[in-house]
Amino acid sequence: MNEKKQVGEKAVEYVKDGMVVGLGTGSTAYYFISKLGELVQQGLSIRGVPTSMQTEQLAKELGIPLVSFNEIEKIDVAVDGADEVDSELNLIKGGGGALLREKIIAASAKTFIIIADSHKNVDTLGAFPLPIEVVPYGFEMTIKHIQNLGGRTKLRQYQGNSFLTDNGNFILDTSFQEIKQPKELEKDLNLIPGVVENGLFVGMADAVITIMDNCIITQVRKEL
Ligand code: A5P
Repeated sequence: MNEKKQVGEKAVEYVKDGMVVGLGTGSTAYYFISKLGELVQQGLSIRGVPTSMQTEQLAKELGIPLVSFNEIEKIDVAVDGADEVDSELNLIKGGGGALLREKIIAASAKTFIIIADSHKNVDTLGAFPLPIEVVPYGFEMTIKHIQNLGGRTKLRQYQGNSFLTDNGNFILDTSFQEIKQPKELEKDLNLIPGVVENGLFVGMADAVITIMDNCIITQVRKEL
């Protein structure tokens, strides 16, 4: 069976009636949101906060009620995919370009759950180029600062143009080879003027639902 579907559908077990739910972005989050849509049709009462315009569109099509930040105090649970997950549940995210909104929502969630197929599990982060969101203004200089930290940058393209995030920014897909100190790198990158956010999510995931030896397993940082 499709691993993304398995982990995505498993995650709905953490959603309870009345919750405010952060809705992730990407092909794994798609299965979570689709299953949630079915449950909403059957009477589950939740309100969603989407991490991207693409997810907002999907949630609307499925009839999932959405809520904006000024109407809520907190997000009860957020469920999202990842591009890489290490053994300490640190992540690289942003393959779909939604990392800024994803991080804002993850940071506001009481419980942040990652759904990841088996290919996402790694010993050390870094084989997947780290997405870094930068403002277009002066991005050539921002690139030089990132290179000084050891990164090899590539400006993400889409249909022959620079890819633009939902926030109107660029993405630099940046290879650092092995990221041995993700916490330090996450901070150092965000100190560069012009960097809006980067796709390192360190110490944020409370649980990762993944597949190992063909079984669904849930790795937990804290009791859910
Ligand atoms: C979106 O910007 C990303 O952070 C995704 O969550 C991540 O790229 C995982 O995507 P898939 O579930 O499509 O592999």
